This record gives sequence, C-alpha cells and structure tokens, in this order.
Amino acid sequence: PRRAFTVAIDGPAASGKSSTARAVAHELGFGYIDSGSIYRCAALLALRAGAVPGSGERSDVAGLVGRASIDIRTRLSPDHPAPGGTDTGRVVVPDVQVLLDGEDVSQAIRTPEINRLVAAIASDSAVRDTVLRIQQALAGAAETKSGAAPGGGSAPGGVVMDGRDIGTTVFPGAELKIYLDASAMARAIRRWDEMNRQMKDAKAKAPAASPEAGGAGGQDGPRAEGAAGQAPAEYPSVESIARELEERDYADINRKHSPLRIASDAVVIDNTSMTFERQVHAIVDLARERMGLPRKYDDDDL
Ligand code: CDP
Ligand code: CDP
Ligand code: CDP
Repeated sequence: PRRAFTVAIDGPAASGKSSTARAVAHELGFGYIDSGSIYRCAALLALRAGAVPGSGERSDVAGLVGRASIDIRTRLSPDHPAPGGTDTGRVVVPDVQVLLDGEDVSQAIRTPEINRLVAAIASDSAVRDTVLRIQQALAGAAETKSGAAPGGGSAPGGVVMDGRDIGTTVFPGAELKIYLDASAMARAIRRWDEMNRQMKDAKAKAPAASPEAGGAGGQDGPRAEGAAGQAPAEYPSVESIARELEERDYADINRKHSPLRIASDAVVIDNTSMTFERQVHAIVDLARERMGLPRKYDDDDL
C-alpha cells in the first residue's frame, strides 16, 4: 500500500499556519487537521468542568479529552476569501468546523478566555499524550479519505497538520516540514484584523432590528450601534493582542514537553512581507517536488 504524504506546519501564534495549511491541503487534495483546535477543545472541557489550573480542583483534563469525541471538518465557503486582503480570489481557503461530542464548538474554542487558558492545558504531559493519539487517529482517517479523492486514484493521498510540535514530535518523519514565522507586530495586526472582520460578519448576520427599535418617530432617542439584541462589541487593542500572543508563545517555547522548536529539517518561511498567495504556491510546489510531480507555479521560488 502506498504511504501517505504528510505536511507538517509549525510556528508561533498567528503566523498564518491554519489558513496556509487549509489552502495547501485544498490545492493538494489532502486532508487538513488543525491540532491547535484539539488543545482548545481540551481547554474548553477543563473550563466547563471547573478544572482549570489554580482552581484547586484536581483536574483530570487528559481523562476528559480521552473520553471526548473530537472531529475536525473542512468545507468550502464562498464567503471566505483568502486572507491578506489584496490578492484574494486566487487561493481557496476552506472553512474549518470543530465538533466536540457532536457540538459545533468552532466559536467557543476561540474566546479570549480559552486563549488565556490553552497554553497551560497544553503543557501537561498526560494531555499531550492523549492529544497525540487523537492526532494520529484523525490523520489516519483524513489520509484514507484523501486517497479516495478525485484524481482517479493516481494522486497520492496525504494530510496537512498544523501546530507547534508536528514536525518535531507528532510526525518526525513527515515528508515536508514548514516552520512559518512573521514579526510579532505583523502577527498581532493580523489577529486584530481577523477579530474585526469576525465582528463585522457577526453584525451583518445578526437579525435585523425589531420594528420598535428605532421606529415610531424615534422617541427612544438614538440607540447604541448593534442594538438588535447584540452584545456591545469590545475591540481589543493591537497592543493587548500582541501581549497575549507573546505570553502564549513564551509558554509554548519554554514548556518541558514538546515545546515549539524549529525541526532541523524544516523549511523556514518568514511571511512578514510575503503575499499569502506566494507563500501557499511555494509550499504546494515544495510538496509536489517531493512527491515527484512537476511544479505548478514556476516563478514562485522561495
Ligand atoms: O491559532 P493560534 O496560533 O492562536 O493557536 P492554535 O494553533 O489554535 O493553538 C493553541 C494552543 O494550543 C497553542 O498556543 C499551544 O499552547 C497549543 N498547541 C500545542 O501545544 N501543540 C500543538 N501542536 C498545537 C497547539
Ligand atoms: O493558525 P495561525 O494562528 O498561525 O494563523 P492563522 O489563523 O492562519 O492566521 C492569522 C491571521 O493572519 C488570519 O486572519 C489570516 O488571514 C492572516 N494571514 C495573513 O494576513 N497573511 C498570511 N500570509 C497568513 C495569514
Ligand atoms: O518515520 P518516523 O517513524 O520517524 O515518523 P512518523 O512521522 O512518526 O511516521 C512515519 C511516517 O508515516 C511519516 O513519515 C508519515 O508520513 C506517515 N504517517 C502518516 O502519513 N500518517 C499517519 N497518521 C502516521 C504516519
């Protein structure tokens, strides 16, 4: 049986791993696994069980995760253009949906509370051992699916997984390892942009204002923006996001068990001033070369 091709993408927070990995997986016809979302599910389970570090509660987060069922699904969404703003439309970035015991937790695992908690949960070796088994099971399932994908059976199946320790610990034998990096300020601004976009999306999707909310001559006076049953939007500052990323990176780099490291055989890409499209094309061609396929984007040498 043909061995599946594995692409490992690691790097610090908000370096572009997830959007890049999704686009690369889509182009190659591979499965995609967002390993950070598994740790985020672990943090959500801990939070819901009141078993967060420092709460005094004896936490068996590894046990909670081990008993949970976690599924990661990607799907094409026409209203999600490629990131980066200017060169959109030419690279497809599928959406990802995370199911925890059947519940769609895609939003619930990306709150500020989870952002603050997740690195501590991910530093626990029992949690990491349990997540490793989940990663391997999900990768196995994704490979099987991708092997049966369009392409008439001649295209090799594979999987793209992103995280912190994929090339070093999870798949040390991965055929292609990428370490994505960008300046701290670029990463903070991207995350800030992303949060603003999400808040705008949420507002646009919120139900229209009820008839009394501003009708009848407006005797209520001016309403606050987003009055249609919407919580007031809190826009975090770029500085506060930069601090949050820095703290999480510090924890991820300095933990004892499988810290964030550049694998010795990883290709390092700093995308601070690289377009999203070029970066995706370059990685697709690296993968194609290593699969023995001709390059697709000739002018996109790194
Ligand atoms: O998307 P973002 O870069 O903010 O984070 P993520 O990829 O969702 O990962 C969230 C957290 O999970 C990281 O800060 C790590 O603490 C942990 N993680 C990990 O320890 N190992 C991985 N392979 C992936 C994530
Ligand atoms: O997974 P990770 O936290 O590393 O990053 P991400 O969620 O894929 O990307 C963080 C933000 O940066 C997203 O809003 C992306 O759209 C954006 N991005 C970008 O503007 N330029 C890139 N080259 C890569 C990502
Ligand atoms: O080769 P080594 O044992 O050092 O590394 P590994 O990454 O743990 O597993 C061996 C090979 O199997 C890797 O090169 C992966 O490409 C492949 N593999 C995979 O594609 N999918 C999995 N779920 C597990 C392993």
